[in-house]
Amino acid sequence: MPRIDYAAAAPAKHDADLLVLPVFEGPEAGPGVREAGRTMGEDLVALLRRNAVKGKRGDAFAVPTFGRLPAETLLLVGLGKREEVDADRLRRATGKIAPRIQGYGKVATTLPQASRGPWEDAVQAVAEGLVLGSYRFLRYKKDDGERKLRRLTLLGSSRWDERRAKRAVKRGEVVAEAASWARDLVNTPAIEATPDFLASEARRMAREVGLEVKVWTKRRLEEGGFGGILGVGAGSANDPRLIELSYSGGSGKPIALAGKGITFDSGGLSIKDAKQMEWMKADMSGAAAVMAAMRAIATLKPKINVVAAIPSAENMPGGTAIRPGDVLRHRGGKTTEVLNTDAEGRLILADALALLAERKPRLILDTATLTGACMIALGEQLWGVMSNDDDLARKLLVAGKEAGEPGWQLPLWDGYREQISSTVADVKNIGSRYGGAINAALYLSEFVGDIPWAHLDIAGVAFAQNGGDYGPKGASGIPVRTLVRFVVNEASA
Ligand code: BES
Ligand code: MN
Ligand code: ZN
Repeated sequence: MPRIDYAAAAPAKHDADLLVLPVFEGPEAGPGVREAGRTMGEDLVALLRRNAVKGKRGDAFAVPTFGRLPAETLLLVGLGKREEVDADRLRRATGKIAPRIQGYGKVATTLPQASRGPWEDAVQAVAEGLVLGSYRFLRYKKDDGERKLRRLTLLGSSRWDERRAKRAVKRGEVVAEAASWARDLVNTPAIEATPDFLASEARRMAREVGLEVKVWTKRRLEEGGFGGILGVGAGSANDPRLIELSYSGGSGKPIALAGKGITFDSGGLSIKDAKQMEWMKADMSGAAAVMAAMRAIATLKPKINVVAAIPSAENMPGGTAIRPGDVLRHRGGKTTEVLNTDAEGRLILADALALLAERKPRLILDTATLTGACMIALGEQLWGVMSNDDDLARKLLVAGKEAGEPGWQLPLWDGYREQISSTVADVKNIGSRYGGAINAALYLSEFVGDIPWAHLDIAGVAFAQNGGDYGPKGASGIPVRTLVRFVVNEASA
C-alpha cells in the first residue's frame, strides 16, 4: 500500500509526478486549478470546455504539463455540482481514479478541499477512497499491472490543524485497510476459508493488534450447549467454531457484536440450485466484517469496551447433516424446529446472541448475509436494519451514512411473530416467504432478551456482482466502516 501523508502546501509548487485537482460541474475550477493554470500559462477551464468536459461525476481529464509544473501530469477530476460535494462524493471519486494513478510514484491532490462538509471527514474519506479503490484480490493471481504508486499527499488548507488532519488520514487508512482485509477473507474460497481458517486468522490478527481471543472448538461447543452451530456444521467435514474477541478501551458495559460466519452455504439438505450457490463462499461476510471492525477498533483505541462472538460453520448436506424436522437446542436452552436447512444463518446466530446476552452488554449488533428477501426489498446498495430499539436503529443509519455505506430500516413487525411459532419447539426457523427479512429478524430477537439489539441484513451489499466506485467485483467490505464509525460515535457520545 502506498503511504498517505498530509501537507498544507501550494499545489502548483508541490513536488509530485501527478497532481490531481477537482473540477465542478460547469465546468468550474476547484481548489488549486486556477493557481496551476496561472503557473502553466494556460486557462484550464477553457481547455476543459473546448474538450466538452463538463466536470460531471466520473469525468477525468489528463493534461501533460511539459515542465511547466513540477508534476509531469495534471489530472482534472469531475465531482459534479459544487454544492453537493461531501465526504462520500470524494471517497467515490478517489476510489474511482485509484486504479489509473498507480503508474505514478508520487501523487498529490487538493481533493479534500472540495468538500462542503466537515473537513476532517473529507480528509479521512480521500484516504479511504485511495486504499479501497486500489484493492485487488491477488491471492491466486500474479499482479494485474505495474504499480509504482508510493505516496499520496493530501494537500490541505492552511486554516486546517495539521495534527488533526494527520489523525484523520490515519483513521481513513486504518478503517479502509481493515475493510480490505475483510474483502480478502470473503473473496478467499471455501476450500481454504473454513471455520478453522477464520479462527486462525482471528488469532493472528488478535496477536498483531492486541485483542483477547478465545476459540470454541467442536468439543467445547458440545460442552457449552451450542446446538445451533453444531447442527448447521454437522453435515460438513470442516468442524464448526465460535470465535470470541474482546477489546477493553474504557469502563462500563461493552458493545457486543456478532457476525454470521457460514463459510459455504450449499443450503444443506434443503439444497440450493447451482446458480444460487455461485457466491455462497461470501456467506461469512458478517463474520469478516466483525473481525475487521475489531481490528480497526483495536488500532484506533476508542474509550469503550467491545466484545464479539463469531459463529462459523459450513452448511453442507453430508450424511451426518441435520434434516428438515430436526429440533436443535441452543445455548441457554431454547429450541428450534428446523423446517428448512437453508435458513441456517439464524441458527448459528441464535447461539452467538444467547452467549452475548449472558455478558450483559449495553447493546448487541449482529450483521449477516441472512436473507434473499432483504435483497429483494432493498437491492444491492442498501443494507437493512431491524431493531427492538428505534433509537439504536437510527444511530446505525447515521453511522452508515457518515461512513458512505447507507442502510434502510425495516420494521420488526410483531404481527408476523406467530409465523415462527412451532408446535414441537419454542420457535421454527422459517415463516412465510413474504416479509422474509423481517421473519428472520423476529426469530433472532427471541435470543437477545430485553437488551437493545439491532440486526443488519447485508445479503444485498456484501458482494458486488459488478465492480463499484471503490472496489472491483467481489467482496465489498461492507459494513466494516459502519460498525467502526458506530463504535467510535458511541465512545464519544
Ligand atoms: N445465505 C442465504 C441468504 C442469501 C441469499 C444471501 C442470497 C445472499 C444472497 C441464507 O442462508 C438463505 O439461504 N436464506 C434463505 C432463507 C429461506 C430458506 C427462509 C433465503 O433467503 O432464501
Ligand atoms: Mn442458507
Ligand atoms: Zn446462508
